[in-house]
This record gives sequence, structure tokens and C-alpha cells, in this order.
Amino acid sequence: MKYQEIHFDTIDSTNKYIKEHYQTLDDFSIVSSDYQSLGKGRNDRSWIANKGDNLLFSLLIKNKDITANGGYLSLVAAISVVQILEKRGFAGVFIKWPNDIYLADKKVVGILLEGQLPDYLIIGIGINVNQEEFKGDYRITPTSLYLQKGEKIDINDFKKEVFDNLIDNVINTNENKALFKEYFSKHNYLKDKEIKYIVSGIEKSGKVVDVDEDFHLLVEKEGETISLNSGEVNLIH
Ligand code: BTN
Repeated sequence: MKYQEIHFDTIDSTNKYIKEHYQTLDDFSIVSSDYQSLGKGRNDRSWIANKGDNLLFSLLIKNKDITANGGYLSLVAAISVVQILEKRGFAGVFIKWPNDIYLADKKVVGILLEGQLPDYLIIGIGINVNQEEFKGDYRITPTSLYLQKGEKIDINDFKKEVFDNLIDNVINTNENKALFKEYFSKHNYLKDKEIKYIVSGIEKSGKVVDVDEDFHLLVEKEGETISLNSGEVNLIH
């Protein structure tokens, strides 16, 4: 599909740009930047990435048949990136529910969904591509594709592959749910792991078994299986 890409050298945040301009931007517009001065992460954290080394972009979705999928689209986004990484020969890539991507047990991709349903949804993705070093304190140890393989990647080639695959998958979300579930189950970083989580302020724990059709995390506790919705749950590491 043809899409419009607006590229900046520097911007505060590509997600924020779309939030401020979604009414005038076409459906499936992409906003990318070499650098973000106020890159936004989940839970009000920041996303810091060196200039020019990484892929930082946001995709705008306005089609209501698609935005109706809500948070499920973060799974579609994560899968879309993992598919390209595997195509490029990266092994051991996992999705940590709901939407971080891990490589060698370190975080290599972050995804932030924002917007106003059903009007529009923004999928913001930060991929650590060629960054050689990560300074400072990180909650989860970061890595980059370069650090894992020792090869620099042409960001322009890479971004085209990621954009095409993401838009293709997003457009076909409703038809592909069974495939996505199967793909996720094979790349579920938390599978069989004991996790702690907070629901309505109360800390609980259990063992992750799978996800269901709606991409809720299925956790087993004393023979009972409960389903967790990413909107209500904080995982504790
Ligand atoms: C996370 O906390 O893991 C999510 C990080 C999302 C970062 C991306 S980079 C492009 C887009 N613009 C932002 O300000 N954030 C997202």
C-alpha cells in the first residue's frame, strides 16, 4: 500500500506530532525522525535514543474497523517487527507481553500505543538499530541490532521493510488473528515464567501459560487460569 512518510531530523516526539495533527494527516501516515528530544515511553517514562542510529517512528490509523481492535494492535506491531528481524537472520527474538521485543534477554524495541478510540490510534515504535552504547540507567537492559550481530544496518532499507510489513499486517488484522495468535505463542517471552502483577492495587503472582484470542495473558494459579488485560495490569520484574 502507498503511504505518506513525513521525516524530521529532530522532533520532540513522533507520537506527539501525530496527536497534534491527526485530523489533517492521511490514514496510515508515518512520521519518523532521526532524533527525538522528548521521546515518550510507556508509563510516562522517556525513550532515549542517539541521533541517526535508530528507527523512531509512529503510524497513524484512522480506519474505524481497524482502530476497533484497540490494544490488540500492539501485538500486531510487535509481530510485524519480529518478522522482519527474523527475515534478516536474527534468532532468539521474543515478544514480552504486551509489546516489548527482546533479543538475547535485552530490550531492543519499545512500542507505545496512544490515541483516542474510535477516532484514531498511533502506533509508536522505537527500534535500537545501530547504537553502539547505552549510557545511563535503564529499567531493563537495552541492546541494539548492531550490538547483537556486529553489523551496521542501512536504516533506509530497514525502515521500508518494517513500514511495509507493519501496514500490511495492520490492514489485515481482522483476517489474520488466528495466525497472529500462533505467531505470538511461539515468541512469548513470558511463557512458563512465574510473574508478579498488580490488579487493582493488589499484588498477585502466577505462571504464564499462553494468550487467548483477544491477546489477554493467561496466567495459572493453583489450578485456576485467569486472563490479564494489559490495560489493567502492571508486571513486576
Ligand atoms: C516503551 O516504553 O517501551 C515504548 C517506547 C516507544 C518509543 C517510540 S519512539 C517513536 C515513538 N515516539 C515516541 O515519543 N515514542 C515512540
